[in-house]
Amino acid sequence: MHVTMIGTGYVGLVSGACFSEFGHEVICVDKDASKIERLLKGEIPIYEPGLEDLVARNVEAGRLSFTLDLAEGMKNADAVFIGVGTPSRRGDGHADLSYVYAAAKEIAENMNGYTVVVDKSTVPVGTGDEVERIIRETRPDADFDVLSNPEFLREGSAIEDFMRPDRVVIGAESERSKDVMRELYRPLYLRETPIVFTTRRTSELIKYAANTFLAAKITFINEIADLCEKVGADVQAVAKGIGLDGRIGGKFLHAGPGYGGSCFPKDTRALVHTAQDYDSPLTIIETVVKVNDDRKRKMADKIIAAAGGSIEGKTIGILGLAFKPNTDDMREAPALDIVPALLEAGAKVKVYDPESMGEARELMTQDGIEWCDDTYDVIEGAHVLSFLTEWNQFRALDFDKVKKMMAEPVIVDLRNIYTLVDLSELGFDYHCIGQASRLRK
Ligand code: UGA
Repeated sequence: MHVTMIGTGYVGLVSGACFSEFGHEVICVDKDASKIERLLKGEIPIYEPGLEDLVARNVEAGRLSFTLDLAEGMKNADAVFIGVGTPSRRGDGHADLSYVYAAAKEIAENMNGYTVVVDKSTVPVGTGDEVERIIRETRPDADFDVLSNPEFLREGSAIEDFMRPDRVVIGAESERSKDVMRELYRPLYLRETPIVFTTRRTSELIKYAANTFLAAKITFINEIADLCEKVGADVQAVAKGIGLDGRIGGKFLHAGPGYGGSCFPKDTRALVHTAQDYDSPLTIIETVVKVNDDRKRKMADKIIAAAGGSIEGKTIGILGLAFKPNTDDMREAPALDIVPALLEAGAKVKVYDPESMGEARELMTQDGIEWCDDTYDVIEGAHVLSFLTEWNQFRALDFDKVKKMMAEPVIVDLRNIYTLVDLSELGFDYHCIGQASRLRK
């Protein structure tokens, strides 16, 4: 099949590369000339494990190509996917659909023959209707169907998530368009992946319901973690104890500094607005948004408390800045709230992240940040060392060396990397999430 993918961000690039791996001919189109130029040179604009090899292999095989020219990209298209960004609109938190609608208009102008237009971007309920209206208005003679096919991949494990998904959701109204999608996803049919066919509006809502449910699940365990600290319980054991109940499930019960990234914060806010617009408020998700926002700020207080109540003139070492490991993505990362709060409280802050230093420098422009070259550079002279992202390379530090290098042996582990190691035995004050602090012996 011939697939056109509009947008070469996370969703577009990963989906396009994976469809080509399935054996389809895929052309990825983007308006950003520098991005296309880089992709044509074999450079991948995002950090995603395995993506570079996957792209190279399929370009080499002649199944994957890149262009700035939508007309060229759509010449033989059986299906055109919209995989452009839907950021939070400034000011009101609604999803900004201007890129989606612009893509719809351009698709209409370049259609030839029956075309299936598939929305893969995360879009509010009813967006497919508007895309259909725009195409119909631009090209009244066009033969097409508009579908919704949300993507559930996670940054850092995006290829695996696409290739071995828990399910594929397709919102399609006509049998003809369903046949195109069945053909596109045939390799997954062979693996017996559940394919959920439903209406377009339902499919659009499934995506938001999935992300907001997961955000609520994380927020729930985060609040339970706070209670654990007060009552002397262990949140990891609680998570295991409840997660083994098949009705609850053990995934996404890892307590931490609050969820971030390009999806949960934006999608929770957007669904809250949709629900308000339809006069059917989602109070539970409104609360999730507020609790999570407050939580990120409270993490700085936790670090200040661990330092004895004041960090004025002290050095705080921060390991990990990205919103989660295996990505360079800094969007809505807890570090963006925590580091400025520490600076405001009078500390000098040393930071290191294996992949996100470039992006972090652009977002954290405050004075007082020292950008370090590696882990031990951060540790040198720190009064408190705090883990904000659970990168593997932070999991096996040499604590004899760490202790000698730090000004004070105080660790605030916001990702529970070391909960199972008794760092107090090694002479550290150890503070984590969801367990009582253990002070140095
Ligand atoms: C999320 C969803 O997991 C994907 O299914 C979805 O496709 C994607 O959003 C999207 O809509 O595009 P992603 O944002 O890449 O994927 O990352 P997650 O692994 O879900 O993590 C999100 C945030 O939750 C991170 O800040 C992470 O640290 C936090 N988290 C996750 C926890 O604090 N605890 C957990 O147990 C799991």
